[in-house]
Amino acid sequence: MSARAVPLFAANWKMYKSPPEARAFLEAFLPACPPRPDRRILVFPSAVSLEAVAGGVAERTDIAAGVQDVHEEAEGAHTGSVSAAMAAGAGATWALAGHSERRREFGDDDGRVVRKVGRILEAGLRPLVCVGETLAEREAGQLEQVLVRQVGAVLGAVGPAAAAGLTWAYEPVWAIGTGRTASPSDAAGAHGIVRGVLADSLGADAAGAVAILYGGSVKPANIAELMAADGVDGVLVGGASLDPAAFAAICSVTLPPR
Ligand code: PGA
Repeated sequence: MSARAVPLFAANWKMYKSPPEARAFLEAFLPACPPRPDRRILVFPSAVSLEAVAGGVAERTDIAAGVQDVHEEAEGAHTGSVSAAMAAGAGATWALAGHSERRREFGDDDGRVVRKVGRILEAGLRPLVCVGETLAEREAGQLEQVLVRQVGAVLGAVGPAAAAGLTWAYEPVWAIGTGRTASPSDAAGAHGIVRGVLADSLGADAAGAVAILYGGSVKPANIAELMAADGVDGVLVGGASLDPAAFAAICSVTLPPR
């Protein structure tokens, strides 16, 4: 077996925090969360706060900034949109793709997510691709089918070399912003499905080394049990990442032996 991925703790700030608010967050968060060799932190601010975050964490090699979304075209007449290359120029080294709020509110279907992942890779950013089922899909017994479709669409498009460099977040839509967290065994089951799809295309060793994060109502009170769940390599945190003390507590969890 190849080594497991280094655990990742990611903050998705969604449509919160202006540049001054982002700087104030870092002033409180950075001293509360000193660097540790066994984990990495990612912060996904809004695009307008990217430079503030990237500049603010420049001295911290354990923390990187990422963009929450990019346009599926490299550039063009797309008022209000941000390209992957522009995000890179503002200091992003990571990019989310396929977040369920983009899928639901902006019509990002699998085809568009695939194109966005292509732009993200072209710009030299690392994609964090989000997948997950809605409550209706889960209740209809379609968990596996949905994950296989969402993960398979991206893997089929990027090819094996790039596929090994992707990072994933399993985020059950019914657990996002609802206070309802997947149980550790729900998370382990879904992560096993995602890893199985990865193994079919990359082989078991390479799939074992890919980071799959869990997201959906992660907070200081449940981080330890989620990080102990089988196949969970980190977390993508929305609401609880807005508070520096809460996110520092999440990032400081004692990790189970790996
Ligand atoms: P939440 O959001 O932690 O507020 O549930 C997670 C996410 O949407 O990435």
